[in-house]
Amino acid sequence: MNRASTRNYVPRETIDEILSRSNIVEVISECGVSLRAAGRDFKALCPFHTEKTPSFSVSVQKQIFYCFGCQTGGNVISFVEKHQGKSFVETIEWLAERLNIELPNQDPRAIAERQRYTTLEDLNRFAVAYYHDQLLKDPAGVPAKRYLHNRGVQGSTVRSFQLGFAKSGRRELLKAATDKGFTTQQLVDAGLIKDEDHGPQDRFWNRILFPIHNERGVPVGFGGRSLSEEHQPKYLNSPATVLYDKSNILYNLDKARQSVYKEQRMLLVEGYMDVLMLCQSGIENVVAASGTSLSENHARLLKRFVPEIAIVFDGDASGFQAAQRGLLRLLAEGLRVRIALLPTGEDPDSFTRQHGVEAFTQLIDNAVNLIEFQIQAAIQNREIHRIDVKTQIVAELTETLVNVKNRVELNEYVKYAVKELQIDKSVLWQELKDAGLKEAPSAPRRTKQGKATPQKLSVRAQIEHQLIEALLQNPTLIPYVKSRFDSQDFTEQRYIKIAQLLWKADTDDAPVDIQDLINNASDESLSAFISGVLLRKTPPPNLQARVDGCLKKLRTFLMRDLEQRVRSSARAEGADDRETLEQLVKLSNERRALSHRDAKDAPNEDINDRRS
Ligand code: UTP
Ligand code: MN
Repeated sequence: MNRASTRNYVPRETIDEILSRSNIVEVISECGVSLRAAGRDFKALCPFHTEKTPSFSVSVQKQIFYCFGCQTGGNVISFVEKHQGKSFVETIEWLAERLNIELPNQDPRAIAERQRYTTLEDLNRFAVAYYHDQLLKDPAGVPAKRYLHNRGVQGSTVRSFQLGFAKSGRRELLKAATDKGFTTQQLVDAGLIKDEDHGPQDRFWNRILFPIHNERGVPVGFGGRSLSEEHQPKYLNSPATVLYDKSNILYNLDKARQSVYKEQRMLLVEGYMDVLMLCQSGIENVVAASGTSLSENHARLLKRFVPEIAIVFDGDASGFQAAQRGLLRLLAEGLRVRIALLPTGEDPDSFTRQHGVEAFTQLIDNAVNLIEFQIQAAIQNREIHRIDVKTQIVAELTETLVNVKNRVELNEYVKYAVKELQIDKSVLWQELKDAGLKEAPSAPRRTKQGKATPQKLSVRAQIEHQLIEALLQNPTLIPYVKSRFDSQDFTEQRYIKIAQLLWKADTDDAPVDIQDLINNASDESLSAFISGVLLRKTPPPNLQARVDGCLKKLRTFLMRDLEQRVRSSARAEGADDRETLEQLVKLSNERRALSHRDAKDAPNEDINDRRS
């Protein structure tokens, strides 16, 4: 789709609102790039090319990104477009949805659909508040409160997780919600009401409710625990709805994601109570899949926030065995997976209560890598000296290892496996190749301009670069330069384009806003270039002096051009006459005067200081 034409469908104010309210650091992290703070900026391994040291920078202050390796850059919109492979309009929709910004002028069907979503979200919010109130204020909630108290759940935890209680009646929520104006159909759509032979009934009754939120904190469903053995099942969960797809939701991810920056890893436990109790003990980077095994979607979701996940399994490892296939999928999504085993019969809740939170933390710190775990498990239980057993183990291991994306990691695992299994390294590599291991990714992608990296610019182009850089760093200098230099006099095409943009943006009423320029640049490589300049370094103290220096030097070049032109046209016409000679002498004098003044006025302007 043509970008310029689709752009018109989204009003400028909406784009501005999205840009001003989106935090590029948050969005890039959500897209799965692990950013680390580096001074005022953030750094990461570039998601757009393969590299071993981070050259991808994000500026919070300027809300832009740039990779010094592959020269991809821009604002939050260009990032999402590139990274998620979305069109401009899709990107705007995605960012708007994240911020709960309503997009005007959509087609009526889309509006109706969105309306349906927001109504269900509102209904869920209402239900969360209603059930929470019942637990805290209704006399019928007293036994539930006592139950939670006996299990060690503190009041602050009850509140922060908005725990609730559904009374024994079958039409409690039904009545409260319809009184509030919601329809039975909406309640059914939200999975809160079952519409059966006896008429509509509450899904949850006599249960403690754990509200489940999506990663943005919107309530999408509930897990409900019964209060007695007789009342089965122990946990009743919301059914799948348009908002709630189990394979896409992790309990507590909305809160846990806020603390993973520190840890750079997520803990995955089995139960709601485990999450609650760990959070209460200060371990906040913990999530649970409600009553399902971990899916590819879960993996992709987690990958948006962390590079590593530690899965806490029950001691007998039966859970691990059952989950093994699923775990391979996590590796395939590029997550590092570590496994922690609890003593038999314990879960994180009971374990921390018995042994304390330090013991639990230690257990997590000692969690072994999925691959090491698999190798150890294979060795422990079998006679690896037998050739058929060893062959089998190598086959299983190969199946796991082909999923490892990172080549450095893979190499480490191979070394480990070779040592533990006492096999030949080349054998394992050959097995991996046979199983479809691809060759290592090729060298960094080059930009379209290819050779035009700053390092290889001519001296003249370097000066042009400096001038443009200075203007981008301090746009108030634009009128000054504009009145002294023609945009067509740059030799590099992209500087001409940028100068044209700048000259055009410079009107009498307001200084040029560079952020705007990035957002409006028709050409992606331009906005990438501008972002790059802005992220590269802080402006030198005296930009005016630098600009004057650049202007003088560029004028010297121009004069030389002119001389050359006069000379060659004179030659072409064979008119080596007096007039031409006079002109040439005059030009040459002017040029000399210029460079003379130049040397006197700005002696320290070092044009060769190359950016790194
Ligand atoms: P557990 O049976 O281990 O329960 O199920 P738990 O989390 O330790 O809960 P408490 O401590 O007995 O209260 C682990 C998870 O499996 C899902 C729930 O998500 C639960 O938290 N589950 C369990 C169900 O969905 N349905 C069930 O009937 C049981
Ligand atoms: Mn438990």
